[in-house]
Amino acid sequence: MLNRREFAHRIGFTAAAAGMLTEMTFAQRAAVNLSGAQLKDMVWLNANENPAGPPASVLKAMADMLPFSNRYHYQEFSNFYTKLAHSEDLDAGQILVGAGSSEPLHAAVEAFTSPTQPMISIAPTYEGPPEVARALGRRVITVPVTSGYYADVHKLVAEAEKAGGGLIYLCNPNNPTSAVTPKADMAWMVSNLPPNTTLLIDEAYIHFADTPDVESALGYVRQGKNVVVTRTFSKIYGMAGLRAGFACARPDLIARMAPFRNNVISIVTAQGVLAALAESKTLLPERKAKLVRTRVELCGWLKQKGLKYIDPQANFMMIDVGRDVRQMGSAMAQRGVAVGRPFPPLDHMLRVTIGTDQEMAKFREVFWNVLQRLDYSRRLTRINADSRN
Ligand SMILES: Cc1ncc(COP(=O)(O)O)c(C=O)c1O
Repeated sequence: MLNRREFAHRIGFTAAAAGMLTEMTFAQRAAVNLSGAQLKDMVWLNANENPAGPPASVLKAMADMLPFSNRYHYQEFSNFYTKLAHSEDLDAGQILVGAGSSEPLHAAVEAFTSPTQPMISIAPTYEGPPEVARALGRRVITVPVTSGYYADVHKLVAEAEKAGGGLIYLCNPNNPTSAVTPKADMAWMVSNLPPNTTLLIDEAYIHFADTPDVESALGYVRQGKNVVVTRTFSKIYGMAGLRAGFACARPDLIARMAPFRNNVISIVTAQGVLAALAESKTLLPERKAKLVRTRVELCGWLKQKGLKYIDPQANFMMIDVGRDVRQMGSAMAQRGVAVGRPFPPLDHMLRVTIGTDQEMAKFREVFWNVLQRLDYSRRLTRINADSRN
């Protein structure tokens, strides 16, 4: 739990940072007005973290390594990269590991955009990569999401063609809409990529998707296409604070990104990652099943209340609250539940992370309470206006 000083410190750090910002930093930026007392018992449903945390085997592996962290352990990283790459049927030369997926995403922006090669992205989407591109002075072209709230692949390709190439950034499932770009659309886009175009697919949330419409783009990496896929241990693995993620791509694309990576990750985290991978075959399906159950439950409750939402495929979802979410967000935070920031142009959509059953019970209570209060004051305003007319 953050105290106010830590919180303010992180906000300050955010302002000064030149690198890729994480979901939590974007979330904290949006929540600067909360007091220390309000933060103390807050239910955090604002940054798409996983309340399950790292599995016990990860904690043990890291604790076992801690006494040996006086050494760099550089010689052990080649084995680490090989094992991580093999977990996705790739070779060590086809991956680039970094501090979360933020670091490889940042490296991709550096490597594949230039003063003449823009980033082409959907809107709304995760702000990290477009913000880095803007900070580097690159042009960022955005195209709106489809009516299904996923990437419009035809428009993305058309923009890349018009620009003479560039970097297409696509998050699948998309943050914040939680919608999946159908695999047929992805296949079309990969086979229609214009010259000088690299496709960057951010699969931070793919493990939570539960539809036959979704397919990882790692297959395109294995086929040697101009495709970079990023993955993270921050979400389904519950290891956000340990900072581990990786990019997967053809060795020549990895070589172009590598100079923009900082260094190796912590050996303690690397041991945690290996332990997580060792149990991934049971851990991932278990965690996904639990998440999907809670997500379906929330959808059922929303339906019962007559509220609309975007069909969710990640560990968060967007609910249509019929008013500017800024009103809802701050009122809910005052009552102990932190929800997602606004994502223009979807100003009526509230993004909430799926937490534990207990956290979601509190979410439902506070959400409904705030919504009813706002509805009541809206009705009152209307009655007053009518009586004046
Ligand atoms: C879509 C997406 N990509 C990447 C990240 C970066 O996370 P991390 O650096 O922890 O992997 C986030 C953070 O929440 C995210 O939402």
